[in-house]
Amino acid sequence: MPQSLHADVESVLLTAEQLARRTRELGAQITADYRGRDLLLVGVLKGAAVFLVDLVRQIDLPLQIDFMAISSYGASTQSSGVVRILKDLDEPLDGRDVLVVEDIIDTGLTLGYIRRLLEARAPASLKVCGLLYKERPRPAEVHAEYVGFHIPDRFVVGYGLDYAGRYRNLPYVGVLKPSTYGGESYRRPEGRT
Ligand code: IMP
Ligand code: MG
Repeated sequence: MPQSLHADVESVLLTAEQLARRTRELGAQITADYRGRDLLLVGVLKGAAVFLVDLVRQIDLPLQIDFMAISSYGASTQSSGVVRILKDLDEPLDGRDVLVVEDIIDTGLTLGYIRRLLEARAPASLKVCGLLYKERPRPAEVHAEYVGFHIPDRFVVGYGLDYAGRYRNLPYVGVLKPSTYGGESYRRPEGRT
């Protein structure tokens, strides 16, 4: 079914079909890798919620789901890496095989913080599944064990990703028109993930 393009979106980067196909592949890979393990998926709210609910139905294993919500401090234009927990996990992590599900790895500072925070809780293993990984220079290389798509350094919305809390419900990932946020080169509008 053709999707009508939102007026604020410049172009579609990833269609719903591409997202669904890649999510199936990731689910199959995770199913193979975690067989016989004690899998706990940790979704980082709010951006990863849409991806997580699709991904989890492609994993053919007993598993649990938990969520955390964080907000980055500092200048609104760039991730500072200083992160505040808005909602912590309900489950203890000791002995669990934890897979953190993220929407996008941009600077990687948020992910670095989450990794340090969760490692300190002594999980049996800790890996990361990021739907999107931006190709851009980084202060330090950031590793995600599972990556959906490597994308160019553009500000994208849809499939859970927002600008100022909006566009999360678009079924595709699209590049936002610069006129929508009033700038030629994009600047992160808000610290909240
Ligand atoms: P990082 O600490 O720079 O890696 O920031 C990661 C967070 O910033 C993600 O979880 C998103 O919430 C947000 N973010 C980074 N790039 C984009 C984008 O292109 N569109 C929407 N949100 C983004
Ligand atoms: Mg966000």
